[in-house]
Amino acid sequence: EYPEFVKIVEVGPRDGLQNEKEFVPTGVKIQLIDMLSGTGLPVIEATSFVSSKWVPQMADHSDVLKGIQRVPHVQYPVLTPNMQGFQDAVAAGATEVAVFGSASETFSKKNINCSIDESMLRFQEVINTAKVHRIPVRGYVSCALGCPHEGYVEPSKVAQVAKKLYDMGCYEISLGDTIGVGTPGSMFKMLQSVMKEVPVSALAVHCHDTYGQALANILVALQMGVCVVDSAVAGLGGCPYAQGSSGNVSTEDVLYMLHGMGIETGVNLSKVMEAGDFICKALCRKTNSKVSHALSGT
Ligand code: HMG
Ligand code: MG
Repeated sequence: EYPEFVKIVEVGPRDGLQNEKEFVPTGVKIQLIDMLSGTGLPVIEATSFVSSKWVPQMADHSDVLKGIQRVPHVQYPVLTPNMQGFQDAVAAGATEVAVFGSASETFSKKNINCSIDESMLRFQEVINTAKVHRIPVRGYVSCALGCPHEGYVEPSKVAQVAKKLYDMGCYEISLGDTIGVGTPGSMFKMLQSVMKEVPVSALAVHCHDTYGQALANILVALQMGVCVVDSAVAGLGGCPYAQGSSGNVSTEDVLYMLHGMGIETGVNLSKVMEAGDFICKALCRKTNSKVSHALSGT
């Protein structure tokens, strides 16, 4: 029994670009988001309000957020790890934000420079303030299927962090296979554990495709009732604090699978391919999307 409709959360402009070594011109980022805005995608994660010393590629966050042409009914969340990020995001016009925690203690330290407990205190402050501004907050749990430093991560630990974020007020919890090491087996076990603590209607999966398992993992999540999937146009990406992690599963490939199964998304695949073509040309790169390869004959 699959869901009839799946919400796609496009993370390419943020997760996809954050790891690029060469600075991507702000105008290119804006054009990418504007092209994605015309595809029917309901959510486009636009940028991150993080330290430019840590992630130089996202240093132009305010200009990107102010420069895009917002399409009604499309959400443009941005990452905000702490109050400074939240305040800067609101000043630049953010109407939705995301906090990002981890199920691995070591990854938390390397990624956001604090322990899991400390991060929850920071997120609580962000969430409380967001509530006053009526700004919805999404929550990520990184390392949900494995950590680049600690290896195996207990499903119960993922469930504990997911529950904490949900109870604090995140409307949706995105379970991140940060380094793409999961398999349908580990995805099943992890979701089984998380679904005991958080309603499945509030869960999303965020798969990186390092080991080529992303679509299989997503299929398992759909079978278990998850109906929100994160993906990146052209399969862009990788996390700067997770060595060896490749891009997110490509939006084009997810759309092809879902539409082939008769699941609606409201997203136009060929328009996403055009946005993918644009960003790949701008980065002088070939697409990571198998579907784009196949359909454009490249
Ligand atoms: P910190 O150094 O611990 O922060 O950074 P601090 O509070 O000690 O402040 C130190 C300096 O940073 C100060 O500046 C602050 O003003 C500044 P100074 O006085 O030295 O000039 N600062 C900031 N600047 C801009 N924006 C801010 C901010 N906060 C403090 N928000 C911090 C803590 C979290 C900021 C830092 O560790 C950081 O930026 N980390 C980057 C994290 C990141 O972007 N990671 C990639 C995204 S997560 C991901 O990709 C996984 C995901 O896709 C899901 C998955 O795949 O699993 C979401
Ligand atoms: Mg990611």
